[in-house]
Amino acid sequence: MPLPSQQHALAILTEKGAWGLVSTVVDRPGPGEILVRVESTALNPLDWKVQKTGYSSMLKEYPAIPGSDSESAGVVVAVGEAVTNVVTGDRVVHQGFYTNRLATFKQYTIVDADIAAKIPDNLTFDQAATVPVGLTTATIGLYHETGGANLVAPWLEGGRGKYSGRPIVIFGGQFVIESAKLSGFSPIIVTTSSRNNDLVKSLEATHTIDRNLSAEEIQSAVKKITSDPINVVYDAISLESTQTVAYDILSPGGTLVNVLAPLIPESKRTEDKKVISAYGSVHAELNRKFGQGLYSSLTGLLESGDFTPNPVEVLPGGLAGIVDGLERLENDQVSGRKLIGRPQETVPPI
Ligand SMILES: NC(=O)c1ccc[n+]([C@@H]2O[C@H](COP(=O)([O-])OP(=O)(O)OC[C@H]3O[C@@H](n4cnc5c(N)ncnc54)[C@H](OP(=O)(O)O)[C@@H]3O)[C@@H](O)[C@H]2O)c1
Repeated sequence: MPLPSQQHALAILTEKGAWGLVSTVVDRPGPGEILVRVESTALNPLDWKVQKTGYSSMLKEYPAIPGSDSESAGVVVAVGEAVTNVVTGDRVVHQGFYTNRLATFKQYTIVDADIAAKIPDNLTFDQAATVPVGLTTATIGLYHETGGANLVAPWLEGGRGKYSGRPIVIFGGQFVIESAKLSGFSPIIVTTSSRNNDLVKSLEATHTIDRNLSAEEIQSAVKKITSDPINVVYDAISLESTQTVAYDILSPGGTLVNVLAPLIPESKRTEDKKVISAYGSVHAELNRKFGQGLYSSLTGLLESGDFTPNPVEVLPGGLAGIVDGLERLENDQVSGRKLIGRPQETVPPI
């Protein structure tokens, strides 16, 4: 079937302005790139933040198509020169980026083939689309040499089970829990609300702590579970309230991994505790090599069930339905699941 020249996209029409459906060009892949027909795209908090907050400076052209911090699962419909790992017709999953060409809130998108992975048969497009941003942020935070805690990744030689018997404390973050399990950490202590306790336990957290307890109560709950030094704390929420207690729990010599900028009061900071802010994009130059390694292992890691997709909720209405989903994310109305838009269900068809 010939490729269309135009497609629907969901865009922010002007800086910090309204959302609207726009018609935009279907790019053709250059060397090393593939063109993907996006069947499912997942929503992430940054996709509303780039419309409403200072993160808008990350978008350089308007109308701006987000899905830039997001992810896509779809079918390869064209390949550029020198692509060897996928062919037309393959089902692939990948992360988007902050340009209209690489964004995922549209029906077709471009990605470099070296940071795309084939989707194994055990996953649907909707499930696969939940993986890239969460998994990338979790694994960069734990395993990146300079942008993370510099642990050995479980897909590398000697990495699996390497941290056996060492405790880790995690504030939220499904893929962080799964990574900790593969790395051998024990106990794996996770803060969660009661409504997601079963989900967190199903991921093999060994202990859960109610996230609504006070800072002192969380610290004392951790102390009751282990008296060993806690050298890795991963705060996948990274509000000031979580960062502060996470920092207090961390032992001297250890690393606290955040997913937002550090908010720990200067008065608390000491030189013997390292604080990292993980940047979960495999498109970034700093993370590119790490991303190539992760994506070359990803199909197998998903097929074996080492990493499992988030529970999904599919939004009705194709691309247009994403706007309500982003509002729900902004208002903290989404819990324990990933919202998915299906760009091909946008009406009217183009
Ligand atoms: N650095 C990066 O590259 C990167 C990448 C992705 C996301 N982020 C950022 O990471 C933050 C979290 O993103 P998200 O996708 O997880 O989405 P989110 O929509 O912020 O969801 C957070 C969920 O975590 C739970 N939660 C809140 N406080 C918690 C706590 N103290 N302990 C355990 N769970 C808690 C809540 O679940 P309950 O319903 O159970 O309370 C909530 O539904 C956002 O600020 C996002 O912008 C950064």
